[in-house]
Amino acid sequence: MKNSQGRLTGKVAIVTGAATGIGEAVARRFLAEGAQGVVVDRPGSGLVQTYAGQEACHCLECDVTDADAPQRLVEAATKNFGGLDILVNNAGIAPSAAFEELTDELWDRTLDVNLRSVFRISRAAVGAMKQRGGGRIINLGSVMSEIGGPGLAAYGASKHAVAGLSKCMAVDLGPLGITVNYLEPGVIVTNMTRPFLEAPGFREHWEQKAPVGRLGQPDDVAACALFLALDEAAFVSGFGLRVDGGALVNF
Ligand SMILES: NC(=O)c1ccc[n+]([C@@H]2O[C@H](COP(=O)([O-])OP(=O)(O)OC[C@H]3O[C@@H](n4cnc5c(N)ncnc54)[C@H](O)[C@@H]3O)[C@@H](O)[C@H]2O)c1
Repeated sequence: MKNSQGRLTGKVAIVTGAATGIGEAVARRFLAEGAQGVVVDRPGSGLVQTYAGQEACHCLECDVTDADAPQRLVEAATKNFGGLDILVNNAGIAPSAAFEELTDELWDRTLDVNLRSVFRISRAAVGAMKQRGGGRIINLGSVMSEIGGPGLAAYGASKHAVAGLSKCMAVDLGPLGITVNYLEPGVIVTNMTRPFLEAPGFREHWEQKAPVGRLGQPDDVAACALFLALDEAAFVSGFGLRVDGGALVNF
């Protein structure tokens, strides 16, 4: 990993949805910077194979919506690594459906994974972070924390709510030395966006909309997560950091 400087040496992190995509890039970046921690993903996601041979991390296969997931995640960090400093709530889904065909089940599942689990895991993490005198919580929002998009009502609602949740958490947890921020990626090339990228015109639209002239890569997001995780970012909280190549300001 380029520019690795041990900037997270001594830190313990949890990264959810770490088997692939943005979560994997974040976890690898944190490990390369000297962090230890717990990587989390669904059973069958290939998590264990992804991190084979990585002694600094503990693989926890579980669904973030499981009732006992918050407790299991935090215990895995404290028992294996002695504490918790950084939580990255990255696991997410983006099922698309025409609005009139959006079922209750799809709505509930999207909100459960993208929002409710963020609340529940963050709540469980506070005690362990308090014991370390503070911490960093980084949630995955989206440019869809600010705008809408076709066929993505549940996703867009969940990501707008992640922004609101993050702001309120920042207010409540600041006195404990815990900062809470959220990332707003644009179109990043991962398994999540692959189906969208196959749709006619989608790739070209977003390449042209981003003034930097390209789609994003998971490492673009990981670099921003690293910044927010650093001790030096102690005065940044309640902030949504766009990682979109400038797409949202380009009208
Ligand atoms: N890719 C993009 O363009 C983009 C843009 C904006 C925001 N985001 C957000 O970034 C995050 C990561 O997205 P990605 O593109 O890397 O997606 P991805 O589909 O490539 O990876 C998501 C990972 O989360 C895991 N996951 C999903 N549901 C889970 C659950 N219930 N329990 C445990 N793990 C679960 C998946 O198994 C997968 O490994 C998501 O929150 C997504 O909404 C992505």
